[in-house]
Amino acid sequence: MECLRLRLPKSIIIFVCLWIVASMTVSGSDRCDFKAIFNYGDSNSDTGGLAAAFGQPSLPHGESYFHHPAGRYCDGRLIIDFIAKKLGHPYLSAFLDAVGSNFTYGANFATAGSTILPQNTTLHQRGGYSPISLDVQFTQYSDFQRRSHTFWQKGGVYQKLLPEAQDFSRALYTFDIGQNDLTSGFFRNMSADQVKAYVPDLLAQFKNVIKYVYDHGGRSFWIHNTGPVGCLAYMLELHPFTTAHLDTAGCIISYNEVAQFFNRELKATVVQLRKELPLAAITYVDVYSVKYSLISQPKKHGFKETVRACCGHGGKYNYNMHIGCGAKKKVDGKEVLVGKPCKDPTVWVNWDGVHYTQAANNWVFDQIVDGSFSDPPLPLTRACHRHPN
Ligand SMILES: *[C@@H]1O[C@H](CO)[C@@H](O)[C@H](O)[C@H]1NC(C)=O
Ligand SMILES: *[C@@H]1O[C@H](CO)[C@@H](O)[C@H](O)[C@H]1NC(C)=O
Ligand SMILES: *[C@@H]1O[C@H](CO)[C@@H](O)[C@H](O)[C@H]1NC(C)=O
Repeated sequence: MECLRLRLPKSIIIFVCLWIVASMTVSGSDRCDFKAIFNYGDSNSDTGGLAAAFGQPSLPHGESYFHHPAGRYCDGRLIIDFIAKKLGHPYLSAFLDAVGSNFTYGANFATAGSTILPQNTTLHQRGGYSPISLDVQFTQYSDFQRRSHTFWQKGGVYQKLLPEAQDFSRALYTFDIGQNDLTSGFFRNMSADQVKAYVPDLLAQFKNVIKYVYDHGGRSFWIHNTGPVGCLAYMLELHPFTTAHLDTAGCIISYNEVAQFFNRELKATVVQLRKELPLAAITYVDVYSVKYSLISQPKKHGFKETVRACCGHGGKYNYNMHIGCGAKKKVDGKEVLVGKPCKDPTVWVNWDGVHYTQAANNWVFDQIVDGSFSDPPLPLTRACHRHPN
């Protein structure tokens, strides 16, 4: 710590020093020099993983920003894109994407439909879960780390495509996963209590993976909790919920309670991990509260539509699980778009009944970036500093 040596009366010098000390203890003194981002997750942060293996989500996905399909289940960018941008990095390449990827600033292991625990279903069964669950994402990361090291030493183009060995401990490890583990129970018609009963198994696995990453040199972790899944059209259309099941925002009360239960347990897991991993800085980010505040008070934040899908087909929520966003149908021998987008996605919270619009993602990012919803309350750019306890 340094005090500014100014030619001013003594009292002012003391004031400047104290202010620096205070800001250090509250939020850490320096901006972290994150060399890379390694992301684990589901469609909330998939920048092309599932698309690389199973095909691109078609237009109008990507219409608001990339102007072509860009591997994202969104009209534009996701929270992870805004995180990369804020750190001054390019958008994160999906690990599975063989064409045009550049992993200098990290890699994205997330795929749409991923779960913490492996599911016993295929992508094409009800729910549509990805086979690339969290354990597989970790295996991919581990292999990526080992081979990056080997190939970097060969020089040439490899040094322009891969991170350096020491970047792995100076990276930010981001996590946004768990939503699909909860919905898999809902799709199997489990009660809220039945789903809650397996949450400890989910978090035991989640904890293992954080520890494996730590053992591989990971030190800075940025963990999103799960969002209000009961506010999403694909859940609202699952059963004929009566208004008694819904809150004033139009969300399923019991499903959101399960999400909040998961989040409380996740937070307790993070507290435990801080004790077990003494060199780790682990930031828990309450994305749930931010998303719920947007859905319950849209007008205050410049939005008009909340639970209805911007892009979809018919029904109360403009959501039909058989005719998704971008779906086409043959009419008189001609292909016509039936999963159509709304006119102005910038005032809609929900994109396709499952995912948020770019406008909503951007808004959520703006709320969480300064640490207001984090424990400890560290801004994104300072998330390498350990919890002061
Ligand atoms: C999948 O099947 C295995 C073996 O039957 C079981 O142990 C596991 O709990 C199942 N997973 C889920 C998510 O149902
Ligand atoms: C990959 O990205 C880095 C950082 O933006 C850049 O320096 C490098 O030249 C890129 N590699 C290739 C092969 O374009
Ligand atoms: C869940 O219940 C619905 C009726 O609400 C039924 O149509 C569906 O087959 C059930 N699914 C499972 C997996 O039991």
